[in-house]
Order: sequence, then C-alpha cells, then structure tokens
Amino acid sequence: MHHVGQIEVICGSMFCGKTEELIRRVRRAIIAKQTVQVFKPALDDRYGVQTINSHTGQQHHAIALDSAGEIIRRLDPDTTVAAIDEIQFFDPSIVDVIETLANRGIRVICAGLDLDFRGEPFGSMPQILCRAEEVLKLHAICVVCGERASRTQRLVNNQPARYDDPVIFVGASESYEARCREHHIVIRD
Ligand code: TMP
Ligand code: MG
Repeated sequence: MHHVGQIEVICGSMFCGKTEELIRRVRRAIIAKQTVQVFKPALDDRYGVQTINSHTGQQHHAIALDSAGEIIRRLDPDTTVAAIDEIQFFDPSIVDVIETLANRGIRVICAGLDLDFRGEPFGSMPQILCRAEEVLKLHAICVVCGERASRTQRLVNNQPARYDDPVIFVGASESYEARCREHHIVIRD
C-alpha cells in the first residue's frame, strides 16, 4: 500500500500523549491490514521490556532493542509500517536507520521527547524532526497553572533537578511533571 515511504514524528513533553497517539496510529494501520512492527529501546523498562505503555494505561507489544542498528536486522520483509517509541534514547545511528526505512518505502512512525529535563533538544530528535515529512507536537497540562505544558520538570527529592545532572534517567510521575515555560525550573550554578 505504501509505495513511497515517509517519516512521521510525534513529539512533546512527558505526559502529552505521544505513546497514546503512536498506539492509535498502529491500531489503525492494523485495521487497514498493513504489516506493522513496533520497536523501542530496551533501556526504558518502566512497564516491562516487551511493551510500550502510555501514561493512561494503553499498551502494545514492542520489540525491545539495545541499538538502533538492530531495527534493520529485526525488520520483517513484509513490514510496511515501523513504529518506534522513545526515539530520544537511541544512539545517533537511529537517524540513518529511519532514513533507510523510509527510503525502502516504509512508513516510519516515531515518538519521543523533543526536549530533555533541562529544556535542551534531546539526542537525535532535532535531526529526525528536520528529516520528517510530518511532525505532530503535542502538549501536556502544566501541573502548576493548568496552561499547556511544553517542558518536562525533573524532580529529585521533590526539588528541581540541576542542569548538570545526567540527561538519561528513566522514570514517570515520581520523578517528572509536565510544566509550561514559566514554571519549568532548572538549577544552574
Ligand atoms: P515518556 O515521554 O514516554 O513519558 O517517557 C520519557 C522517558 O524519558 C522516561 O523514562 C523519563 C525519561 N527522561 C530522561 O531520561 N531524561 C529527561 O530529561 C526526561 C525529560 C525524561
Ligand atoms: Mg511514552
């Protein structure tokens, strides 16, 4: 069905519904009788390794991988739709992998954080966003004021994290909140 491949990106802060939207697109592709494979980095083991999960409880089977290159190796020859969640966690070769898939005629649906807890672009997301045919930026709700949230607040012992803390720290609502620009705090010395 997909003669020309394409890259679609779903991005935004934590709790904005990225995985929910990814699962929605996957379910629709399955209804359309397309052959779909879902991938994720093994690093994110929040709810079990072989699934992707939305914060609202939706779930879908996924192949967990240690490196981006494994996506090509694990790709079924019949696959026409490849969905990849938590794309920000993959090594930089993810950019070439996604391009290769799209150039082979595959519809690639990627979901991930555009910004890390510091408000800086996350991993290879800038490269992927620029190469994508379609980008959807979702917003969560700021837990402080109720405005739309574009940032993710990391909390360490209920205090804002420091700028030089490690970028990768797997977690959910015990460590992170959605916040608007005004209420997003990063401690800098
Ligand atoms: P989510 O966007 O599907 O909610 O998951 C984002 C994951 O990324 C979650 O495990 C927390 C992690 N994360 C980091 O490792 N560093 C960060 O700076 C942020 C904001 C999230
Ligand atoms: Mg998610």
